[in-house]
This record gives sequence, C-alpha cells and structure tokens, in this order.
Amino acid sequence: MEVLLESEQIQSRIRELAAAIERDYPPGEEIHLVCVLKGGFMFMADLIRAMTGTRVTLDFIAVSSYAHSTRSSGEVRMLKDLDTGLEGRNVIIVEDIVDTGLTLTYLQDILRARAPKTLRTACLLSKPSRRLVDVAVEYVGFTIEDRFVVGYGLDYAEKYRNLAHIAVLDGQ
Ligand code: IMP
Repeated sequence: MEVLLESEQIQSRIRELAAAIERDYPPGEEIHLVCVLKGGFMFMADLIRAMTGTRVTLDFIAVSSYAHSTRSSGEVRMLKDLDTGLEGRNVIIVEDIVDTGLTLTYLQDILRARAPKTLRTACLLSKPSRRLVDVAVEYVGFTIEDRFVVGYGLDYAEKYRNLAHIAVLDGQ
C-alpha cells in the first residue's frame, strides 16, 4: 500500500496540535478528551501523552461508522455512551477523520446538549472535498484528498488499525 503519512510525520504534527491546544486554554484549566472509538484510539493515546503541561481527563464514546464498506450510509448510531457527564467541562472530541461530517455533527449536537463549558474538536485527518455538512473542527492534523486511508487506528473491515503510519487502500 502507498504510504501517505509516515509515523514520524504523524508524531511531529501531533506534538504541534498538543502545543496549540495547550496554548488555547487558560493555565490551570482541566481538559476532558472524548475519544471516538474505535478509529480515534491511537490518535488519542499519542495526543494525551504530548499534552504534558495540562491536567487531562478522558472518556470514550462509540458510534457506528462504515460497516465493511468504504461508503458512508449517512446513518449514525450510538454504540457506547460516555461514563461521566460533561457539565461545566472543557471538552475536546478526538476523532480519527472527518469525511462527510455527518458523524461529527451528530456527536457535537449530542455532546453540546450536555452543557460543557467549552466544546471543541480535534481530527487527525480531514477530507474537505467529501463534506456534506459544514462542521467546525478547531484542530486538524492533516488535510487529505478523497482517498480511502487505513492505519493509525483507521480500518477497512476492522483491518489495518495497528499500522503506525497511514496508507492509501488500493482500488478505492
Ligand atoms: P463521516 O461521518 O462521513 O465524516 O465519517 C466519519 C467516519 O467514517 C470516521 O470516523 C471513520 O470511521 C470513517 N471514515 C471516513 N473516511 C475514512 C477513510 O478514509 N478510512 C477509514 N475510515 C474512514
């Protein structure tokens, strides 16, 4: 598979994102990261380790994504909800990729309704040419073309999540 982003590139960009996040919040503010499973797990693990100067808490949420297909159904379903509430907290949604934007719009709507103090989003990847809805993403790792990518948490039919780099899936 063609390598799109090497592991070192990803790690260096994540350090920049962590620094940008830490600059944006007043000193002493706690940040609550909400990782979107399954694809966001590796990004979350590296991002949280790069946020060395901040008090951080975390939680996980799971929503349905593409079921054994590279095309979005546009349907979003909650598979696992958060363990704790968001009221008064500085929440950052940590997502692997924003494609059509449907998943993120759904997540932002339901999390905003839980009255966080602030709500922002960090996505490792963004495919703007595929967007169906306009959705705000404050922290974007890399903007990529409309190609189906795998690795670094991202899958095709549950495979390739373990790659340390991001590759383009051939024939997509
Ligand atoms: P959206 O709702 O269309 O923005 O899709 C977001 C979700 O689709 C992501 O969280 C991924 O799970 C999945 N997805 C979108 N593009 C890709 C890709 O290129 N590779 C792997 N998963 C993708």
